[in-house]
Amino acid sequence: MTLAQQRVVVIGGSSGIGLATARAAALQGAAVTIASSTRERLHAALTELPDGTGGEVLDVRDEAAVAALFDRVGELDHLVFTAGDAFRPRPLAELSLEDARAVLEVRFWGAVTAVKHAAPRIRAGGSVALTTGTVAQRPVPGAALAAAGAGAAEGLIRGLAAELAPIRVNAVRAGAVRTPLWDGIPEEQRAHLFEQLAARTLTRTVGEAEDLALAHIHLMQNRYVTGTVLTVDGGLLLA
Ligand SMILES: NC(=O)c1ccc[n+]([C@@H]2O[C@H](COP(=O)([O-])OP(=O)(O)OC[C@H]3O[C@@H](n4cnc5c(N)ncnc54)[C@H](OP(=O)(O)O)[C@@H]3O)[C@@H](O)[C@H]2O)c1
Repeated sequence: MTLAQQRVVVIGGSSGIGLATARAAALQGAAVTIASSTRERLHAALTELPDGTGGEVLDVRDEAAVAALFDRVGELDHLVFTAGDAFRPRPLAELSLEDARAVLEVRFWGAVTAVKHAAPRIRAGGSVALTTGTVAQRPVPGAALAAAGAGAAEGLIRGLAAELAPIRVNAVRAGAVRTPLWDGIPEEQRAHLFEQLAARTLTRTVGEAEDLALAHIHLMQNRYVTGTVLTVDGGLLLA
């Protein structure tokens, strides 16, 4: 099954894993719409994507805006959710409860909001896929809330797979992936960090956005996969 003629919405599609997924889906002939919160980032991404790709400015923390987006989109086949904001490790003791809740706002509650408004419009044979991370299984100090968010999203896809069936609901669980998410770290420090992260995997590499896009494409295409978390981490969890 290819994605030709399929309607795909990628929330978080202006960068990294989402942009690579949008590109891969468009190359298969899908009609793709990307959404993200920054107009400039969205427009820059659209210049890299095939003509005809749609773009919508959307902050997933705004439920009314999410509902309005899916009203405009109408029927779709696949929702891919890759939106996530950069995360700075901080121990719980240093977080106000408001800060702690905010860690889950885009990655978890944003995903809940998107699925709630997209699911009634997903056509037969369609799917939803979220993006989580190995932080849920291998947290480092300071990442407890990020781990909680990723773990919650993995529980969410199992619950929704049962609830929304026959719509399929899955997640891609990413290891360390070279994307603009890391751009807040100075270049030299980032290169050193990637070397360290690569050394902790079995493949001795960090991932590229395209590696994760392949997993998202698989979850859209494979009609027999639901309720699954597909790990793409170079073997980090085994190493
Ligand atoms: N890269 C990794 O190593 C890694 C590892 C494990 C898990 N992950 C997870 O994978 C997901 C994708 O990460 P990535 O590496 O592709 O990051 P990225 O390159 O920074 O892309 C994140 C995307 O999310 C969008 N976004 C951020 N806040 C948003 C909001 N409030 N509403 C709508 N869109 C929003 C961004 O666009 P705007 O700025 O325009 O909003 C951007 O398009 C994230 O959830 C991340 O936590 C990544």
